[in-house]
Amino acid sequence: MSELLLEAHDLAKHYTVSRGIFRPKATVKALAGVSFTLAPKKTLAVVGESGCGKSTLARQLTLIEPPTRGSLKIRGTDAATADAATLMTLRRDVQMVFQNPFASLNPRKTVATTLAEPLLINTPLSAAERRERVEALATKVGLRPEHLRRYPHMFSGGQRQRIAIARAMVLNPGIVVADEPVSALDVSIQAQILNLFMDLQDEFGTGYVFISHNLSVVEHVADEVMVMYLGAAVEIGEKTRLFAAPLHPYTRALMSATPALRKADRRERIVIHGELPSPLNPPSGCSFHKRCPLAMPRCAQEVPQLREVDGRRVACHAV
Ligand SMILES: Nc1ncnc2c1ncn2[C@@H]1O[C@H](COP(=O)(O)OP(=O)(O)OP(=O)(O)O)[C@@H](O)[C@H]1O
Ligand SMILES: [Mg+2]
Repeated sequence: MSELLLEAHDLAKHYTVSRGIFRPKATVKALAGVSFTLAPKKTLAVVGESGCGKSTLARQLTLIEPPTRGSLKIRGTDAATADAATLMTLRRDVQMVFQNPFASLNPRKTVATTLAEPLLINTPLSAAERRERVEALATKVGLRPEHLRRYPHMFSGGQRQRIAIARAMVLNPGIVVADEPVSALDVSIQAQILNLFMDLQDEFGTGYVFISHNLSVVEHVADEVMVMYLGAAVEIGEKTRLFAAPLHPYTRALMSATPALRKADRRERIVIHGELPSPLNPPSGCSFHKRCPLAMPRCAQEVPQLREVDGRRVACHAV
């Protein structure tokens, strides 16, 4: 068995979309080929603007959709060649927490039923054992015993997200993919939920793929950061290094747009000009070149590959 929880290699997802009856179908490269690994007890944060492919990546990692290209290994097992029984085991091992806790919980089920269901389906535990596990986990996520008999509508957003997190953790998965899990919550609640994620990781050793467009959130939770632009990773590396000295002009622009991160050594705000290009019609060469302050003629022609620079990987001709 591999030491790594996830090994993604050139993982890509293309969608065919219709642009009207008189026009040929087009291909959206929602995920253009990303490679990374995730180790136990670690958090890989995925950050980037709307439409850069974060949720598409989440759907690949949770085996909701098959990739167009590339490979994904979960604890060393290749998902593409796994048989049905192995796939079931892999799916149990990768759980998901969604952005909207109002939509992700069944309104007709009590919290106890919601949390016990995965145990009923996937384990031989008795009713008493299931109840014990559910009660213990509910306490860990900050719910009280009487909450278990209630329905989702009786809870606030933050409490609902605690329930959704408990549901993701109930089978003790190796990996949790969280897609913007605090974006829908009040800012005052966000830190509590982030701390809950981190406490659970400490206790259970879970690896997280934590998707967020918010760099302050990413700085709080990440061990490693992958910055995405139009379906591709432009910079990937250890958090402290990346936050201390971002190298890719897009990473630098994102960071300078977050006031709390604009430290003394990054005085001026770097403004990205122009619109985010459509993934239906990405620019030639480096997909960022039309908005990039460092663009050179080469950037319009040649797609930059990720390469090792200063202890992280970065895809840019200018660094
Ligand atoms: N099923 C689909 N069919 C066609 N195009 C899709 C499909 N799913 C996603 N896309 C396109 O792929 C690109 C990436 O979408 P995705 O939802 O992964 O982005 P995202 O980074 O999660 O954005 P957001 O921050 O808004 O959630 C977008 O251009 C989107 O329109
Ligand atoms: Mg998304």
